[in-house]
Amino acid sequence: RRWPVQEPGSASLQMEGDRKVELSEALALGPGWRHACHALLYAPDPRKLFGRIPMRFAVLMQMRFDGRLGFPGGFVDAQDSCLEDGLNRELREELGDAVSAFRVERSDYQSSRIAARPRVVAHFYAKRLTLEQLQAVEARAPLAKDHGLEVLGLVRVPLYIMRDGEGGLPAFLENSFIGAAREQLLEALRDLKLLDPGTVGKLKIPDSK
Ligand code: GTP
Ligand code: MN
Ligand code: MN
Ligand code: MN
Ligand code: MN
Ligand code: MN
Repeated sequence: RRWPVQEPGSASLQMEGDRKVELSEALALGPGWRHACHALLYAPDPRKLFGRIPMRFAVLMQMRFDGRLGFPGGFVDAQDSCLEDGLNRELREELGDAVSAFRVERSDYQSSRIAARPRVVAHFYAKRLTLEQLQAVEARAPLAKDHGLEVLGLVRVPLYIMRDGEGGLPAFLENSFIGAAREQLLEALRDLKLLDPGTVGKLKIPDSK
């Protein structure tokens, strides 16, 4: 099992090949580099599973055309005047028109990584919505331009651990993820404090770089 521990410099990290870079460093990369932006959308969810397990937050990921889980977003193109314009355009294509109720901004920026694929730098954002906004995104997503093509469906991430110690977030993390999406998810869960302290302890989530 790869989860939970991933030592720095381990084979799996090297295979994934991505390295965190400062945004200024990423923006200074030459014209031969492609920029991609993806976003974690989340909202507080007061409900309890089986009347017992707090859901805490609704966190969205998507099943991609390649069978891997990732975040909505994509490549920033020549038509986009900045990273966030590209990101919000991709969100519209992949999630549909409910995303026009908000805009992911530079203030929602989390981190950048040089991806395994040569000359792609992946920028990551996280945006807090109301539960109503997030539910509208889910409701409208099947009508999005890319639904059924690049995007096979949205999923919510389970943020709890079941009594067997595996069900919930540990089992979710065993899925196949695109690029650094799994690391981005864990980083956001940690930095935005979306998990309860008990879950953080059991998962042994690595500290910031
Ligand atoms: P096209 O319009 O078909 O080009 O797709 P796209 O613009 O939606 O691009 P996509 O979302 O596939 O992402 C662009 C690049 O980022 C690809 O190299 C992916 O491997 C990578 N990528 C995709 N999703 C994620 C993600 O959630 N996190 C990270 N770090 N990289 C991702
Ligand atoms: Mn039931
Ligand atoms: Mn896309
Ligand atoms: Mn995409
Ligand atoms: Mn695209
Ligand atoms: Mn596309």
